[in-house]
Amino acid sequence: MKEKINAFLKDVMTLAVVCYQFGDTGKGKLVDLFSSWADIIARGTGGANAGHTICLRGKEYIFNLLPSGILKDSEGKLNIMGSGMVISLIKLSRELRLVHENGYTTNNLKISHRAKLVLPFHIIVDRLKELSLCKGDKIGTTGKGITPAYLSHYAREGVVMNDLLNPDIFVEKVRKMANEAIEMASKAKRDDFFKIMVSPDLDNGIFYHPKKLIDVDMVIKKYLGYAKDIARYICDTDSIMRNSVGKSKILLEGAQGVLLSIDYGTYPYVTSSDSSAEGLAKGVGLKHSDIDLELGLIKGFYMTRVGCGPFTSEAGGEESAELCNNVFKPEEFRREEEAIIEKFFKNGNSVSELMVGRLLRISGGEYGATTKRPRRIGWLDLPLLRYVMEVTGNKNLVLTKLDVLNVLNQIGGEPLRVCYKYRYEGEKPYNYGEVIVKKGQVIKVAIPDPKFLEQCEPIYDSFEVWSEDISKIDSSDHLPINLKILLIYLKRETGANIRILSVGREADQTIFM
Ligand code: IMO
Ligand code: MG
Repeated sequence: MKEKINAFLKDVMTLAVVCYQFGDTGKGKLVDLFSSWADIIARGTGGANAGHTICLRGKEYIFNLLPSGILKDSEGKLNIMGSGMVISLIKLSRELRLVHENGYTTNNLKISHRAKLVLPFHIIVDRLKELSLCKGDKIGTTGKGITPAYLSHYAREGVVMNDLLNPDIFVEKVRKMANEAIEMASKAKRDDFFKIMVSPDLDNGIFYHPKKLIDVDMVIKKYLGYAKDIARYICDTDSIMRNSVGKSKILLEGAQGVLLSIDYGTYPYVTSSDSSAEGLAKGVGLKHSDIDLELGLIKGFYMTRVGCGPFTSEAGGEESAELCNNVFKPEEFRREEEAIIEKFFKNGNSVSELMVGRLLRISGGEYGATTKRPRRIGWLDLPLLRYVMEVTGNKNLVLTKLDVLNVLNQIGGEPLRVCYKYRYEGEKPYNYGEVIVKKGQVIKVAIPDPKFLEQCEPIYDSFEVWSEDISKIDSSDHLPINLKILLIYLKRETGANIRILSVGREADQTIFM
């Protein structure tokens, strides 16, 4: 595998792995794979909203904050958490403990002195705000305090890692920041507020104060306590990155996906950082032009989305969105869904689109790594992909999770569908800059506005899925003909340059093209 990777990355010094959909496209696996090649692995966007899964020596690790190269620390690889990240110390210290308890080191971890802190207030505000929104306005955030933390930054009131090294400055800033959360808490329903306060992300209730509602002194005490363990990692990572470009092999690990980017995504159903390669480069102190190769990850011929927002090609449409977005006990939901599928296989009922979605969800393990929520399932949406390829200016794609589609064969060769264009069905014309889209018009490149997407009907092509087990194929020469047909179709429809196929969780289940 090492030789294959080296051959694949010949002439590349800085590589970016970014998702071109709504997140959860297997960035963890790819980053883990390439981390054997890299000297530096760096994250630069988002925070604990990301959930990156790595399998090592038969054990599965999910990291929300630490870069996915962290388990290779003892090989001398630098893992960097860049200045663009928003970091909760409660979560970070828990992840560090997990790494250490499993016998791994973190001697070469570096955290930007300008990385933004997620404080308990941000998590409280994120969750209270989401609760206060009416059903149609909810975003379905991960509740990790991401938007409020970035808001503090842009409101020029944020607290950064470096402040932890100067406790007086830290205390002053934290006291100023607390007010908004306390005010919101005082207006919230006591029950809701209490439930939020006792969550593990808020250290199981230690910041709750029966009179003051939020115990600011405890926040300060706890954070300065964590800072004692974390201080040794804090430094100017931007300058390390700048000085390493062209000299060391750098792997940039994206979080979320371009369709969730604050700048390019389906706004407002997005996260609050720019999850494109451009935002990623900036978030680690580099320029977009420093990247030699950008790999855009998409799932192999299906798609997922967690939380609210438009999803034109959703299998089961509204019904699926309703089902997935109203889950309060995710673990229970998963067990129920498994039972439904088991029964389905026993009785051999007819297959609805919603059921196809359920099957793909179970087969692909499509339950959030961060929140355990069921991911909404749909078909590959080419208008959205064309849009992402247009704004990123990149054609290099990786198709992941291709092995998942085999499940369609188990239910009697249900066809695979690909949405290759939309038809606009809005009664009112939609104005997009100088363009006017009218009812009945066919759209090949998506417009990322939810108000527009809601009024688009997907138009599908159908394909037969291969019946061969592709999880053991190690060369593009041996791909089943039905998969080859799909790859040719994808190239023809989007101009994509398909560089890698991932056909399983393990590193060697990767086909370089
Ligand atoms: P990885 O890196 C999938 C989604 C949330 C929500 C919206 C805003 O694992 O691919 P936020 O908490 O960021 O304010 O939520 O964005 N979201 C993700 N969905 N994968 C992620 O990360 C995500 N990070 C945020 O579900 O809809
Ligand atoms: Mg995720």
